[in-house]
This record gives sequence, structure tokens and C-alpha cells, in this order.
Amino acid sequence: MEDWCIVPGPASRDLAEKMGKQMNARLIKVEYKIFPDGESKIILSDKVRNQPVILVQSTYPPVDRHLFQAFMLSHRLSEEGAEVNAVIPYLAYARQDKEFLKGEVVAMRVLARLFRHVGVRRLITVDIHSVEGLSNFSIPSYSASAIPLLAQHIKNKVKLTNPIAASPDFGGSSRVEAFSRILGIDHLVLEKKRDRVTGEVKVKQVDLSIEGRDVIMVDDIISTGGSVQRASVQLKKAGAKRVIAVCTHPVLVAGALEKMRKAGVDEVIGTNTIPSPVSKVDVSPAIVEHFKTLG
Ligand code: R5P
Repeated sequence: MEDWCIVPGPASRDLAEKMGKQMNARLIKVEYKIFPDGESKIILSDKVRNQPVILVQSTYPPVDRHLFQAFMLSHRLSEEGAEVNAVIPYLAYARQDKEFLKGEVVAMRVLARLFRHVGVRRLITVDIHSVEGLSNFSIPSYSASAIPLLAQHIKNKVKLTNPIAASPDFGGSSRVEAFSRILGIDHLVLEKKRDRVTGEVKVKQVDLSIEGRDVIMVDDIISTGGSVQRASVQLKKAGAKRVIAVCTHPVLVAGALEKMRKAGVDEVIGTNTIPSPVSKVDVSPAIVEHFKTLG
């Protein structure tokens, strides 16, 4: 593997350290502080030589702060002559990748431009909301998948009764297919509708009988928990014994965990693209694997 060094952004120190160990890479010292008005100050305390660096910074809430910290670091690194590879495990704004409503700003397009302008040469994320979103980038971009790691975790750690996997919406079909293939189980796809103006989510009732079965619901993001909550209600109505919600990015805002628990969700399992009480699966091997392919 190339002689990488890793720059841990303030949002992703743990993940960067894990990657560093697996890649036998030098970790660059980064110091930062937040001013009372919310501005960030960042100091690169180690020298980077003219070498390829991997900047690791997830952009979970506070989204814009973490994003701007990624821009600041990348800008500085490129000023030092480093070739910046940005690992943004949770890529904020990925759900705003199209003009859904007339006049809507395609935030992903803005983001893609900004990353290029601050010197990012290659961007790697994990389970981007939709792979088409990557087409907004004019630099090489790649979405690694945490699905095999999540499936393996379920296989090894969770005892299941007659399990079936489920996606809360059509958009997650390929994710749930990949997941269920690894576990060798069936899957179903629920029908979800989101009102683009109010954001309200409705999930249609499940036609199939899943009496007494454990359902593993697979999603890319759990943010407010609204999608999983509504899907869980329908799954329980259809006879599900247990509902286990699995996701790559546990954003978990607005009391999501409590909301899902009240809707009958028995367990929530996520990865460490975002630190949270449910971040049980380490996603670093999937990211490191991608760098191995680069030589
Ligand atoms: C939507 O299409 C995504 O795949 C997730 O299902 C959604 O973003 C989750 O958001 P929330 O938890 O707020 O429903």
C-alpha cells in the first residue's frame, strides 16, 4: 500500500485512528477549538510532506460546522502541497441530490464544487444515499459499503427467529437485497411516501403475513427515526415478532431512539460513521479496503 498519512478531522478522531492502525499510516496531529460565536480554529501541528494524505471527517450534526472544518483542513493540506483524499464517512446533504421542487438548490452540486475548490483530489464516502449523487463530483468519488459488515454483525451477534429483511422504501432495495443475500434470507420492500413540502412520511401496510418472524429493517440513514417508526408500526401489524433496525448512519436527531422504541423497534444497530449509543459496527475495514485497491 502507498505511504499514506492520515489527518483526523475533529469529527472523526476514533475512526481515523482505527484506519491508521490498519494501514500502518502516520497520524498527523490536529488541534482545534470552537470560539464562543461558533467559529472553528484548526491548527495542523505536524508537518505534511508532499505526499498523499487521507483526511477523515464525517459531517454529522452540527453538519455545517463539520463540513466547514473539512474544507479548512483540506485547504491547508493542499496549500502544503499534499494530495488530499477526503474520507467523508457520512456525507451530509446527500439526500439533496436532485431538484425535487422547482427552484430547489441542489446542495450536493454545491458541495461537490466546494470540495474540489478546497483541493480535494478524491472523495470517499460510505453508503451514500443514492449512488447517482456521486455524478455531481468532477473528481474521482467512491461510496464504500458498510452493508456486508452490518450483515456479518447480525449473523454473529443477534439470535433470530425465522428472519426476514426489509427496506422501508424502494430507494433502499439494492441495500436490502445485498444484506439479505449475505444472510441467505428473504426480503421485502415497503412502500413509503414522503411529502416533499411538509416532510411527512407515510408507509403503506404490509400485504405479506410475517407472523412470528423477526424483521431486520435496513436503511442508509436513521435521522429523525420517522421512516423506521412508521415502517415498524406496519411490520408489527403484519405480525412481526421483533423489529431490529440496522443502518449505516445513525444521525439520530429529534428523539429518534425513543420514537422508534415507542413504535415497537426492539433494537437499533448502526456503524461508527457517526458516534452514537448504537454505533456498534466499525466501518473502517470497508474504507481501508478501498485504499488497498488504489495500491
Ligand atoms: C430516505 O430515503 C432515507 O433512505 C432514510 O430512510 C431517511 O432519510 C431517514 O430519515 P428519517 O429517520 O428522518 O425518517
